[in-house]
Amino acid sequence: MSDTQTVEPHVYKGLTGVVVDTTAVSKVNPETNSLLYRGYPVQELAAKKSFEEVAYLLWHGELPDDQQLADFEALERSLRHLSPVIKRIIDELPLTAHPMDVVRTAVSVIGASDPEAENPSAKSDLAKSIRLYAQLPAIVSYDQRRRHGLDLVEPRDDLGYSANFLHMAFGEVPELVVVNAFDVSMILYAEHSFNASTFAARVITSTLSDLYSAVTGAVGALKGALHGGANEAVMHTFTEIGLEAGSAARAEPWLEQALADKRKIMGFGHRVYKSGDSRVPTMRASLVTLTEHYQKPELLELYEALETAMTTRKAILPNLDYPSGPAYHLMGFDTLTFTPIFVAARITGWTAHIIEQKKSNALIRPLSAYNGVDQRQVP
Ligand code: ACO
Repeated sequence: MSDTQTVEPHVYKGLTGVVVDTTAVSKVNPETNSLLYRGYPVQELAAKKSFEEVAYLLWHGELPDDQQLADFEALERSLRHLSPVIKRIIDELPLTAHPMDVVRTAVSVIGASDPEAENPSAKSDLAKSIRLYAQLPAIVSYDQRRRHGLDLVEPRDDLGYSANFLHMAFGEVPELVVVNAFDVSMILYAEHSFNASTFAARVITSTLSDLYSAVTGAVGALKGALHGGANEAVMHTFTEIGLEAGSAARAEPWLEQALADKRKIMGFGHRVYKSGDSRVPTMRASLVTLTEHYQKPELLELYEALETAMTTRKAILPNLDYPSGPAYHLMGFDTLTFTPIFVAARITGWTAHIIEQKKSNALIRPLSAYNGVDQRQVP
């Protein structure tokens, strides 16, 4: 019985198939395998627009004109520097901490240091969102660097978002082909309707809590291997099978054993898409370009061999984490940094949803069906 009802309710385990609210931020259509951000197909945005333009679109509902883009880029570039407090707190965290815990802590510290944290207005929330978006690259990059005994690389305000991110991570700007592949991944990861982390952010927002609390909760939800953590898990799978030339031949026997052991194959399957993730073809094309650029055909062979084995054996298709994991690996990122990169992209979608939730809020409080012992007397 539910905690307030007397008739036995239907339980929607995992909220599968339940529509909990409306949104104008994005539309996922599993029948046509399409994903629209504010009406625009994501693959067209990835082909024609920068991550800055897409971030602007998600927050404002329209693409920027030239002046709006110039103003937005100038603002983002002016906010990139980490405060000494954040840097000091990151330095205090042990190197054994998962980078997602470092990101979660840094977001919390930014919130605790913001005198406007409790200001609930949409204008204030947008300002906070842009600040987080501008600072996450420094947080993610610095955390990776300190794990290698390296110091913070200061941001450059003559570089676009993705070029600057890579500059802060590696101390140099890679070739354009790499910057473009990274930018495409940020666009594809930016938004995906009511996924688990966005829903977590909306639940927290629905209690009238502040934006930083909602984002901190979303980071926690994204960390899990069934959600954002899958891009890291894909790389663990590839490493387990073997990254050297010829290891593609081991993909099929590896899969047979993994399925026999009842393991979930990370980077495959999706709650909403059942006939293919709309973002995969675009990211796969970037991965192909990167394997050519870095002359690592063996990685693409392994990618294709495991995909073929999985789709033949289980008819379960790859999701975005499957091509993005190896793409970040080729760019030189540590595997543990993959999900924090996802945070830096999804901050745009999360905060667009937080602002939308506040516009027509209703406390999100579902019911539960009690299946414990019947009422009894305390002895
Ligand atoms: N490997 C093996 N079997 C799978 C996989 C997988 N990756 N995905 C689904 N299945 C199987 C399940 O075992 C289940 O089989 P059963 O009916 O025989 O028990 C069936 O397919 C249905 O799977 P569910 O887990 O019930 O489907 P759900 O919609 O809940 O799962 C999910 C979606 C969680 C993404 C799942 O496919 C999964 O665990 N994938 C691996 C993790 C992953 O890649 N997550 C990233 C999601 S996308 C993103 O965050 C960008």
